Amino acid sequence: MQPVPVHASPSVHRLHDADEVARSAAATVAAAAREAVAERGAFMLALAGGDTPRRLYEKLAAEPGIDWSRVELFWGDERSVPLDHPESNFGMARATLLAPLGLEPSRVHRIEAERGDLAAVASEYEAELARVTGARPGGPPPRLDLVLLGIGADGHTASLFPYTAALSESQRWVVAADVPRLSTRRVTITFALIERARAVLVLVSGASKAATVAEVLEGPWDPERLPAQRIRARAGRVDWFVDAAAASRLRAAERRPK
Ligand code: 6PG
Repeated sequence: MQPVPVHASPSVHRLHDADEVARSAAATVAAAAREAVAERGAFMLALAGGDTPRRLYEKLAAEPGIDWSRVELFWGDERSVPLDHPESNFGMARATLLAPLGLEPSRVHRIEAERGDLAAVASEYEAELARVTGARPGGPPPRLDLVLLGIGADGHTASLFPYTAALSESQRWVVAADVPRLSTRRVTITFALIERARAVLVLVSGASKAATVAEVLEGPWDPERLPAQRIRARAGRVDWFVDAAAASRLRAAERRPK
């Protein structure tokens, strides 16, 4: 039985529906951006992929409280598809956030996974993270201000899938990762980088995720089968924004004060 790490347990916020998840997440991102810019002059944000954050990005595009000229945008993972492919995480963020805001391209650090040579793409992305954050290449991962994540019904997060080698990566910040269920490969940040973040925000909505949310947050420790159990921030905070449908199987959930 693997020892259960003694990090601070995540704060789970049960919200009414996907729209309230997006609204609360937008307010949280804006507050984190203001704090980071005030304290460090810039906001280092890693975007999540998949469909759940789409609504958040649309709200962020209309969010007045963020100085986007101080934001450095990264991605938590990317699929090896063309940029205009419906599965492209960059493509989704471009349509919902980057294009509406007309963000400065030099602040948008995407993962070029459409190239196919994913091991090289992963190394180059680490170099880009080092260049922008000032972290020493090969040294401890940079401390991003906020990492946005989702989870899959199979318990994966970013592109850290069950029973894959990427789960045990403790040095690299970014790797090429197998996705056995989809017989494909992707590029993903590692838990080594996630755990260094100042804050992690996990967004989950929909009844299809309810069993997984309950297992991940309240089930026995089994991180190979449920990688999302490893979502921790050693010296930061972890919040889960979960809508009522996705939280329906949780024994206890704190309702976020209005
Ligand atoms: C990805 C994501 C992945 C995602 C979950 C949930 O690129 O697929 O990073 O981890 O967050 O698969 O996806 P949905 O939001 O589409 O359910």
